[in-house]
Amino acid sequence: MSTIFPTLYDIFMKPLEKRKFISIRSQLLAKATGQVLEIGSGTGINFPLYRGVQSVTAIEPNPNMSERAIENKTKAVVPIEIVKVGAESLPFEDNTYDTVVATLVFCTIPNVEKALREMKRVCKPNGTILMFEHVKMRDPFLSKLQDWLTPAWKRVCDGCCLNRETENLVKQNGLPIVAKKEFYNGLFVTLQIRNDKKEC
Ligand SMILES: C[S@@+](CC[C@H](N)C(=O)[O-])C[C@H]1O[C@@H](n2cnc3c(N)ncnc32)[C@H](O)[C@@H]1O
Repeated sequence: MSTIFPTLYDIFMKPLEKRKFISIRSQLLAKATGQVLEIGSGTGINFPLYRGVQSVTAIEPNPNMSERAIENKTKAVVPIEIVKVGAESLPFEDNTYDTVVATLVFCTIPNVEKALREMKRVCKPNGTILMFEHVKMRDPFLSKLQDWLTPAWKRVCDGCCLNRETENLVKQNGLPIVAKKEFYNGLFVTLQIRNDKKEC
């Protein structure tokens, strides 16, 4: 895990966040209810945006990221707890959370199938999974460009893959998408997903 990446991430993301992402994040997070689990919370950019939820448990495996989340944690209006763990093996009981949130994180998680299974497991039946992710684009030229850029991008951006097919992965895992919005020509999407599973 890179130590310089967290600093660079905030510097490079700030203009984009201010111009567009904060509003996308706020609209998506307005759908969160009850007890929330956030996957890969990074520098905690979502923390001040939560409203009217009971609490947020945020998991983040990179301590260099979560150290930088302290400021955002103090700005939050709901209780936030950060747990240092990866999404592929969550130390939580089945059916614990009403909402599971993942923003700009499915591009980086090494084992996305395992992470999605864990998110389903800890989310209550008919609970909500909210995602804001960059995905592989439909346009054949741009999607080839994403494939081509990914090896170098991955090295510079701490494992981030530009060409992840996150939306397909969600569908293949039997999770119904109940609402979807596209941004920047389909490079970014928000997904509201129902955790369609039987009580376990
Ligand atoms: C691009 S940052 C996004 C941070 C934040 N979610 C946001 O919206 O800005 C990706 C984050 O995913 C985290 N990450 C990497 N591997 C992970 C894993 N296996 N499980 C959970 N988070 C992971 C990284 O440490 C990093 O903080």
